[in-house]
Amino acid sequence: MDRTLAILKPDCVQNNKIGHVLQHLLDAGFKIVGMKMVKLTKETAGEFYAVHKERPFYAELVDFMTESRIVPIALERENAVTELRKVIGATDPAEAEEGTVRKLYAESKGRNIIHASDSNENAAIELSFFFSSRELIDNM
Ligand code: RTP
Ligand code: MG
Repeated sequence: MDRTLAILKPDCVQNNKIGHVLQHLLDAGFKIVGMKMVKLTKETAGEFYAVHKERPFYAELVDFMTESRIVPIALERENAVTELRKVIGATDPAEAEEGTVRKLYAESKGRNIIHASDSNENAAIELSFFFSSRELIDNM
């Protein structure tokens, strides 16, 4: 079993889509092993997305991610990282496959409902950004 991090972004929370997206993830075979609701500061959002620091959309991304509360979720499944990326679909909902979370619920490339880790290495880093090892201890 592998683990990955999803984040329900501010648009998901604002538009009352938390329940829909959670059900979609559960139906896709993921087990929720950690979940919380947090409000990021500009500093913590900037740190989380530091890899995009030089990209033109960085400031917009940090503003967006700090608009309201978000829901980080630790998910478990076989091939969790790859499978979650498939389930959420392409970054831009206009390019996402039918039936994916972003196709169903996202409004634009910037406001795209959900984040998912893009490698096992980043999943470990990102899980530890939001959850302590004690919170994610194997509890079946
Ligand atoms: P994420 O990291 O949130 O799971 O999304 P991703 O891998 O599909 O896309 P990535 O390239 O990592 O971009 C991170 C987030 O930045 C925003 N973005 N806006 N306006 C734009 O051109 C643009 N490009 C990216 C999106 O919120 C994207 O999810
Ligand atoms: Mg990414």
